[in-house]
Amino acid sequence: MTLLESLKLRARIRPQRIVLPEGEDGRVIAAAVQVVREGYATVTLLGRQSVIRAGAAEAGLSLDGVTLLDPAVSPALENYARILLEGRRASGLTSSEAHTLVRQPIYFAALAVAARDADGTVGGAASSSADILRAALHCIGLARDAKLVSSFFVMIPPSGLTEIPAPWGNGPLLFADCAVLPEPTAEQLAEIARATAESARAILEVEPRVALLSFSTKGSAQHARVSKVREALKILRARAPELVVDGELQADAALVPAVGTHKAPGSPVAGRANVLIFPDLDSGNIGYKLVERLAGALALGPILQGLDRPASDLSRGCSAEDIANVVAITALQAQALKEKNTAGVR
Ligand SMILES: CC(C)(COP(=O)(O)OP(=O)(O)OC[C@H]1O[C@@H](n2cnc3c(N)ncnc32)[C@H](O)[C@@H]1OP(=O)(O)O)[C@@H](O)C(=O)NCCC(=O)NCCS
Repeated sequence: MTLLESLKLRARIRPQRIVLPEGEDGRVIAAAVQVVREGYATVTLLGRQSVIRAGAAEAGLSLDGVTLLDPAVSPALENYARILLEGRRASGLTSSEAHTLVRQPIYFAALAVAARDADGTVGGAASSSADILRAALHCIGLARDAKLVSSFFVMIPPSGLTEIPAPWGNGPLLFADCAVLPEPTAEQLAEIARATAESARAILEVEPRVALLSFSTKGSAQHARVSKVREALKILRARAPELVVDGELQADAALVPAVGTHKAPGSPVAGRANVLIFPDLDSGNIGYKLVERLAGALALGPILQGLDRPASDLSRGCSAEDIANVVAITALQAQALKEKNTAGVR
């Protein structure tokens, strides 16, 4: 079984309700049909029913099992506008603005999640990351135990797309932050690393080994940027002493055992990292795209973390297959969140 298949299998055990705001987009329609056919989530497509039906017919797809919902005529509008207004009144949002915003599918979808009418939302095939992020921040907000929203990509090496194990034995990796915080402070880097470690446990069911990346390994270079990463390590070690984390590490020291032993002897992470924390958004975003395009890895995301409920972004260049895959990850996040909340109640 490939890694992707095993993720979908886990999602299928307790299918979650996912709402896709860009329901009139042909790729989103195809993804919804695929998800429902494979049974790892239930899907609601937002948009005008006539347009969605015409899109499906044109592609020769059956919408059996897919729920269609037009926000413009939904009876939920009033309730969602109230939720939005309650959350954003202090930031100056007026009732009239809330009523306008709620009709936008990406806001409607995020509010459906906030209202518990859906377990997660996946958008961004036709919207910018900033718009998706803002809708999630405004409607869903931060989780109680989170300090900020950041994002990660699940990077599946080409060998993980077949049944042959990854040659370096590391399997999939999580990369963060590749989509949200342009210039994280040391404090924010530590929080991104903590949240991504938790996501690695929830999504990949692996014990995280977190590398704080830099252009320096263990003092090989001196610069304010290197000091920032070292400071993040200090904060993280104080905050989560149980976490297996090290830094600052160059990417080769983090990933290649021989280089790790040479450059960072005795490190619990060097040469075997499975969570890579990039020092800023430039390196994170460029890094994931290089690995995707040059190494042929499958990049799933950006998956947002730190929100009170799951909402995921997409790259506008995504395919129907990419959207379906991100739905699977988002469904796993929703499952994990429910398990965490149930455990908290006990
Ligand atoms: C995420 C982003 C859109 C937020 O922008 P912003 O201008 O701060 O948005 P808003 O002012 O509407 O923020 C809404 C609220 O969320 C807060 N917020 C913003 N970013 C946050 C974050 N990462 N985590 C937690 N809260 C955040 C703001 O402080 C604000 O709080 P307030 O209403 O209490 O003042 C911005 O950081 C961004 O554009 N990031 C880059 C995204 C991008 O283009 N990525 C491309 C790569 S794929």
